[in-house]
Amino acid sequence: MTAAAELVRERAAAEGREPITPRVGLVLGSGLGGLADAVTDAVAIPYAELPGFPVGSVVGHAGRLVLGTLAGTPVVVLQGRAHLYEGVPVSDLAVPVRTVRALGAESIVLTNAAGSLRGDVTPGQLMALTDHINMMGANPLMGPNDDELGPRFVGLGEAYDPGLRAALHAAADAEGVALAEGVYLAVAGPSFETPAEIRAFRILGADAVGMSTVPEVIVARHAGLRVAAVSAITNLAEGLGDEVLSHEHTLVNAEVAAADLQRVLTRFVAELAP
Ligand code: HPA
Repeated sequence: MTAAAELVRERAAAEGREPITPRVGLVLGSGLGGLADAVTDAVAIPYAELPGFPVGSVVGHAGRLVLGTLAGTPVVVLQGRAHLYEGVPVSDLAVPVRTVRALGAESIVLTNAAGSLRGDVTPGQLMALTDHINMMGANPLMGPNDDELGPRFVGLGEAYDPGLRAALHAAADAEGVALAEGVYLAVAGPSFETPAEIRAFRILGADAVGMSTVPEVIVARHAGLRVAAVSAITNLAEGLGDEVLSHEHTLVNAEVAAADLQRVLTRFVAELAP
């Protein structure tokens, strides 16, 4: 049990809640936090109060953990995340994911805002991730390994769970939402990529590019969580479109995708209900 998970349980008890074990953790990225408001019987705790939690400073990230029920299923929602580019040590990015695990979840769904490297997947669309390429130059498992938490060497052969991905597609179909599939390439940021980097990343096999998620996937697999991930495409990657990229632009377009993403995730979670 992480210290943060203990605090969450204590806070929930102090607020008179029945103890609940979340089935799934949901990590909501830039501009995608609205789903947290749909959680009922919620206990919400700012990251700043949770021991070891890295606190992000990016606009569009609320920065709180919400434990409660969504569509009849117990969930823990992480509304916002800290990023490597904020100067957070990469190993600290492990704490929120390990807290999800310590609270009892078996699966985690990670969401992010990303640029598309594919002309057929345009801003406002969603992409289920099938795999990743880590170009962050960092790995959250570097340093001593705690064998109680997971193995020293972690396989990432099927890091993105095929069963959960199929469930995401079923939820998207039921909601009439198009859900592309692709490989996510993570950079450290905070600068966006150059056109030459994007040309190189296309050759490497990337379909989307962003500045998060990969450290969390690695920690989640180390912890034995099943992983699903969805990118909300906010722009065509640098050099592929004529938009001027900025964080404001990301947030505006994330809002377009957010409504669809919320419907897909709500149905996905409903289907997990016991
Ligand atoms: N590059 C990196 N991160 C991003 C992008 C992008 O084009 N869009 C949203 N997050």
